[in-house]
Amino acid sequence: MEELRHVAIIMDGNGRWAEKRGLRRSMGHREGSKTLEKLCLHIADKGISYLSVFAFSTENFKRSKEEVDFLMNLFIEMFCKKFKTLQDKGVKVIFSGRREPLRQDVLDSMDEIMKKTQHNTKLIFNICINYGGHSEIVDTTKKLCQKVVSGEMNIEDIDDESFKQHLYQDLPPIDLLIRTSGEYRISNFMLWQLSYSEFYFTDVLFPDFDEKEFDKAVTAYYQRDRKFGGVKS
Ligand code: FPP
Repeated sequence: MEELRHVAIIMDGNGRWAEKRGLRRSMGHREGSKTLEKLCLHIADKGISYLSVFAFSTENFKRSKEEVDFLMNLFIEMFCKKFKTLQDKGVKVIFSGRREPLRQDVLDSMDEIMKKTQHNTKLIFNICINYGGHSEIVDTTKKLCQKVVSGEMNIEDIDDESFKQHLYQDLPPIDLLIRTSGEYRISNFMLWQLSYSEFYFTDVLFPDFDEKEFDKAVTAYYQRDRKFGGVKS
């Protein structure tokens, strides 16, 4: 079985986790952020090299101002204070998504954690904020067009490999995609990188998706038979 190199998680069900307990939705996001921190340390310990997570989609701006503000403030708090443990563990934090129209203080906190962790190599932690899969492909196409127009690149040089290199981040393909909370959708997440991923869906809500639940997903992954369009060997 192919080595598990890149795991991606759609962290869904924070709102429902809170509502089930009679709490405000934002409390689900706070609990989810604790789960994420623990998972990240666990994933680094397991020797997995890349983790991508969907923290905020371009569509999430449609939520109430209260919820959007809460999430933005939570990101700042996590990047400025709580991610110290990840930094010490050797995790390198990078981001995918459009910077516009994120708040300046959010952008500053993202730049700070990127800078602080830039030399780490144990786990590359790609956080998707204000991210959309279609937007990523559109933005990449524009980058390549600009290079062709300026003469830096020839149209013949555009292929799978050069396209990948111009995405928000140049990452290996995703081996395993996990989505929590019983939803069976990709929701515009990392469309290019997911082309041959194995999918793992679970009813567990993200705040409850602990290290044990993660290990179940890994076990399921190693039982799959990946063929990449070929035939079984
Ligand atoms: C989806 O659940 C989750 C989100 C939109 C936010 C995810 C954010 C975190 C886990 C916070 C921590 C992140 C970082 C990077 C520090 P939902 O609200 O759609 O849940 P629901 O479907 O039950 O309403």
